[in-house]
Amino acid sequence: MCGIVGYIGEQDAKEILLKGLEKLEYRGYDSAGIALAGEAGVTVIKEKGRIADLRAAVDFSAGAKTGIGHTRWATHGVPDVRNAHPHQDASGRFTLVHNGVIENYGKLAKEHLGGVRLQSDTDTEIIIQLVAKFAQGGLSTEEAFAETLGLLHGSYAIAMLDREDPDTIFVAKNKSPLLVGLGDGFNVVSSDAIAMLQVTDRFIELHDGEMVILKKEGIRIRTISGEPVSREPFRAELDAADIEKGTYPHYMLKEIDEQPAVLRKIIQAHRGPDGGLWLEEDTLRAITEADRLYIIAAGTSYHAGLVGKEYFEKFAGIPAEVHISSEFGYNMPILSERPLFIFISQSGETADSRQVLVKVKEMGHPSVTLTNVSGSTLSRESDHTVLLHAGPEIAVASTKAYTAQIAVLSILAACVAGTKGKSIGFDLIQELGIAANAAETVIDRKEDMEAVAFEFLQLSRNAFFIGRGIDYHVSLEGALKLKEISYIQAEGFAGGELKHGTIALIEEGTPVFALATQPELSANIRGNVKEVTARGAHACLLSMDGTAEESDRIVIPAVHPLLTPLVSVIPLQLISYYASLHRGCDVDQPRNLAKSVTVE
Ligand code: F6R
Repeated sequence: MCGIVGYIGEQDAKEILLKGLEKLEYRGYDSAGIALAGEAGVTVIKEKGRIADLRAAVDFSAGAKTGIGHTRWATHGVPDVRNAHPHQDASGRFTLVHNGVIENYGKLAKEHLGGVRLQSDTDTEIIIQLVAKFAQGGLSTEEAFAETLGLLHGSYAIAMLDREDPDTIFVAKNKSPLLVGLGDGFNVVSSDAIAMLQVTDRFIELHDGEMVILKKEGIRIRTISGEPVSREPFRAELDAADIEKGTYPHYMLKEIDEQPAVLRKIIQAHRGPDGGLWLEEDTLRAITEADRLYIIAAGTSYHAGLVGKEYFEKFAGIPAEVHISSEFGYNMPILSERPLFIFISQSGETADSRQVLVKVKEMGHPSVTLTNVSGSTLSRESDHTVLLHAGPEIAVASTKAYTAQIAVLSILAACVAGTKGKSIGFDLIQELGIAANAAETVIDRKEDMEAVAFEFLQLSRNAFFIGRGIDYHVSLEGALKLKEISYIQAEGFAGGELKHGTIALIEEGTPVFALATQPELSANIRGNVKEVTARGAHACLLSMDGTAEESDRIVIPAVHPLLTPLVSVIPLQLISYYASLHRGCDVDQPRNLAKSVTVE
């Protein structure tokens, strides 16, 4: 995780770096720092906490036109100023920011830095101490940097300053995301384009094992081993307004509200010239040729994958398995003869998922990535990419990416069914349109959802979410949303499973959110609700027009039963949002989390 930025040019570097870090705060927010290279040398300012704390600490005008910055999600070493980036070598000549994990830092320290006392507990400091050592040994900074990179095992996106060469930023990338941004008389580097859209929309993608010598007049890319690299820039198709909160108090609320529009955008993107469903031909062929699908994802994306499995099996008749990416390697299933791996990842950067992709590529199996970020690592490295069209998702808790993933999965499965000559029995484009309208209706009922959050969760320490069938998958997502932003202990359960142990936790007033959108499962889940209310639970029933009973607390408009997750999750997102708000939590940046999880 962590985010890095760098600027070299003619403007006030401090302001550009701080603004960039504010945009990257979603990548981590334990501590932050910047280093500014001016006439007096390199000044480093670091603070524990958010970028706002750093900004308050850098209340002077440094006048520097070159600098690097970092926002941290702690992996090695507690989040304090000592472990915050930038790090410097003992002489203070070299200054560096790093995103990633250096796996062999202990070994390198022992082998190469016997006499040097490390100043932090991080895996990062080894990099800067090694560069200093090799430079002292007579290598140029560029070669000392390359020599060091050649020794590192792990992931890194690095920007480094040399006090003796203030006209250069040294940059390198391996496995962690990094882009170089190009400008007129300046150049920048950043973990994500959104941080530097303030100054440019022209970017160059870096590949693993590449270094960049960044100057204000131009850039030079090379591999670590010294071969020159030439690559065309691309224009980031991001609208700066997409990454602003506008009048919303929180990104999460804005992103919840955007869901109907995202669904409509997805429908547009997959409408063919004949008005029917369309999917890029090679991707469609790859999925259709598979005899079994292995869906790999983490967190919310995993929950979307569970719904996707239903679509592939019910629409297209292809067996599908869903795996948590971090577990896949230990419990690798016996693969079918023609497996296809589908990676689902909002960020396209999740390290747990990427390590599975690396493994299955080595085994020679084809892959498709569903992601919100074109050009992301998973997208680049898999054989095919299907974009989610959700627009930047900034709040750490995923909302619109989840519904986008489900909508795209339904389209993929329906397209495959079409190719196989199977009818899915309904008009998906029309039904997705109905779901988008229903989502809008639910979003308009924010006051109701706030009242539910207040009534059920104001004083609760824990909560349960139950459902059957497709509702069970949504209950897992509802519980995850609630726990991650309100810190209420919440669990999702299959309605029938609760009585096999967990019902022991039900006490007087325990909130139980029960999803009952599926007509044929309604009686059973209502039975489970009776079981828990008989034991004192405070039950909140979420049902759908057509299956609803008068006492149901939340009733969503009628949509196709297989598309209910697109709508039923929205009240749960809103309830979590308001529960978090009522408790005074940080909705967009909950504690201990980061938006893109680039460590395994
Ligand atoms: C929860 C959440 C996480 C992510 C997970 C995977 O709200 O956002 O659970 O879903 O970290 O991230 P991606 O989808 O980027 O691979």
